[in-house]
Amino acid sequence: MKRDLITLADLGPGGIERLLDDAARFERLRGHADHPRPLTGKSAALLFDKASTRTRVSLEVAVVELGGHPIVVAGGSQMARGESPADTARTLARYVHVMTYRTFETSRLVELARASRVPVLNALTDDAHPMQILADLYTVRAVRGRLSGLSYAWVGDGNNMARSWIEAAMLLGLELRLACPEGYDPPQAEIDRACAAGARVTLVRDPRAACEGADVVSTDVWASMGQEAEAARRAAAFAEFRVTRSHVAIASPEVVVLHCLPAHRGEEIDADVLDGPRSFVWDEAEARLHTSKAALAWALSTSP
Ligand code: CP
Ligand code: NVA
Repeated sequence: MKRDLITLADLGPGGIERLLDDAARFERLRGHADHPRPLTGKSAALLFDKASTRTRVSLEVAVVELGGHPIVVAGGSQMARGESPADTARTLARYVHVMTYRTFETSRLVELARASRVPVLNALTDDAHPMQILADLYTVRAVRGRLSGLSYAWVGDGNNMARSWIEAAMLLGLELRLACPEGYDPPQAEIDRACAAGARVTLVRDPRAACEGADVVSTDVWASMGQEAEAARRAAAFAEFRVTRSHVAIASPEVVVLHCLPAHRGEEIDADVLDGPRSFVWDEAEARLHTSKAALAWALSTSP
């Protein structure tokens, strides 16, 4: 069966840990002659319906360093003029060996994956950003040496990032406290599902309650791609949901501050936090490369 990565659960039991181990090997072997090249002679189509810097470039470099040929399709395609994801997949799967797709509704990604006979990886939808969470977990493990037994805080929108954190908490049995303004919560069913699986996921209204003693503090933009028209309303609703020095001060002294980027200093996070000593956002951005290699290798059923 082909391996699609639509959500983190697709990696299967123990799959996240195995992928992070593979990513660490890719990091170690980077630039060495024995860096694995499982994409040799293969091509990857990287499809984008939304803007991207990190995802696009890290995937492109990952494919090249795995020996393959990346083809970025970002605007200008027939899909941008209304050709369906399914017909696009049927065509591209005749050319390439793996695809990644960043789009709006998850249903578009699922349609593409169902019609594709080659693996498809989720490069962000309105509901999930699993490849970013793999990089975030990789960063936490690199800094703190482990993932379990830590407390994770999320401050801000109950968006695609928050929802993939909830899924990670479910799969890894993590403690996750989300502080979201009323009206911007992640779906309660996803929280309930994570708790039923043994995770401790709670929703609070006060960012201080989420950050108190936290080992990891994450945030993201107030208005995601596609929500630009809501930006003013969201800025008012999120005014108290900025990660500040006072949140870092009440977190663990070893707190790892994360932001998937791009960031808006002075909105969801203060500059002295994003650029401060507990911020690991550049390592997090770098981790996109190592974890993307591992995800591509997993999809093609190879390990380093
Ligand atoms: N974090 C992330 O996905 O960044 P880009 O939007 O730049 O790809
Ligand atoms: N929540 C953001 C993440 C960007 C990487 C968005 O969807 O725009």
